[in-house]
Amino acid sequence: MRFHPFTRLNKLLESVQAGGGNTPLALSVGEPQFTPPQMIQRLISEQFPLWGKYPQALGNEPFRKAAAGWLTRRFRLPEGMVDPAKHVMPVSGTREALFHIALSAVPESAPGDDKPVVLMPNPFYHVYAGAAAAAGAEPYFLNATEENGFFPEIAAIPAAILKRTALAYICSPANPQGAVAPLSYLTEWLKLARAHNFVLASDECYSEIYRGTPPHGALEAARELGGALDNLIIFHSLSKRSSGAGLRSGFVAGEARLIQRQAQLINFGGVATPFPILAAATALWQDEAHVADYRAKYIENFNAAQDALEDTFGEVRAEGGFFLWLDVGDGEAAAKALWEKAAIKVLPGGYMARPDASGFNPSQRYIRVALVLEPAEMSAALKRMAPVLARVVDAHGGAQQRAKMV
Ligand SMILES: Cc1ncc(COP(=O)(O)O)c(C=O)c1O
Repeated sequence: MRFHPFTRLNKLLESVQAGGGNTPLALSVGEPQFTPPQMIQRLISEQFPLWGKYPQALGNEPFRKAAAGWLTRRFRLPEGMVDPAKHVMPVSGTREALFHIALSAVPESAPGDDKPVVLMPNPFYHVYAGAAAAAGAEPYFLNATEENGFFPEIAAIPAAILKRTALAYICSPANPQGAVAPLSYLTEWLKLARAHNFVLASDECYSEIYRGTPPHGALEAARELGGALDNLIIFHSLSKRSSGAGLRSGFVAGEARLIQRQAQLINFGGVATPFPILAAATALWQDEAHVADYRAKYIENFNAAQDALEDTFGEVRAEGGFFLWLDVGDGEAAAKALWEKAAIKVLPGGYMARPDASGFNPSQRYIRVALVLEPAEMSAALKRMAPVLARVVDAHGGAQQRAKMV
């Protein structure tokens, strides 16, 4: 609990007054504030009688076909590479599924009676570390810094660690930095997973929010390596793509044995997706118009951020996702100042990362800002933030400051 980023944020701000006579705004959480697609309302009410039915872990065939069809179109996969009968299942939000994969992938012990290892980037979505701990594994953090383009160098992972690795989480577009991995990077990870027989969990929940070309997914890496799904499981969500966080709906796809194990965990102690929600989700995965509309709003928001913050930070627009990742010199100082002066809540970057043995936290200098408001509101919020951030960077020496000193 003490590592939970939002618990830490509440503690940091508990004695700070939200100030400036402004309406408080939470830009700390990655929850899109757009109106969800209207079709959800109609589809769920049409399925009213199905609220009387127990949901099934594997959902139903129309959903699995819609998910497999979407993957095939989106990632240009050969027909049949993702079989809706065995390679895909719905999940009640990918958070739960990301947690469950650690429970199913981590054995009691690694070779030589050692503790199994779960690899993850640093900073990371907090569920990866929580899941590793619950599964009894040792987390191994791979620093994702500006120097490595926010994608940790695979060749630098020690052989002794790889020997014990049961699971690796990767995330592209990355939360928090919004970096997008080249296909070669995903392929390298999948090759490594197969060479050392661990599970590669590719978290792709931001894949539909991008500014340029659509980000690659790990299924494309599987396609490049011949089309088998061995050692791979990927995670997709409607929370970001379709502004539907409250639906709690996503899916996993990958190797049949991994999907079976995820389904088993749901059958014993999880929550399957209710049929009416599944009906709405089936339609959402078959519609791209609403996704394009949301994507356009994020692009507007990134452009507004660029206008408001350029003088202090230079280029702030990320390739993917909907977060600003700003080097403010001291993330906690910036979060406090924004709350005190502008009543805006953001997340100190350090709360998303673990310090190494020497105490170095690769994200301590940063804040994460979720660009999740309607563009007009977002633009006003960014203007409110800009002078506060300029002062923090002056006092603590953020990115631009460092660039000037070089
Ligand atoms: C990187 C990442 N993965 C997964 C999730 C979980 O999303 P959901 O459970 O809503 O599908 C989130 C949500 O914030 C996230 O940021």
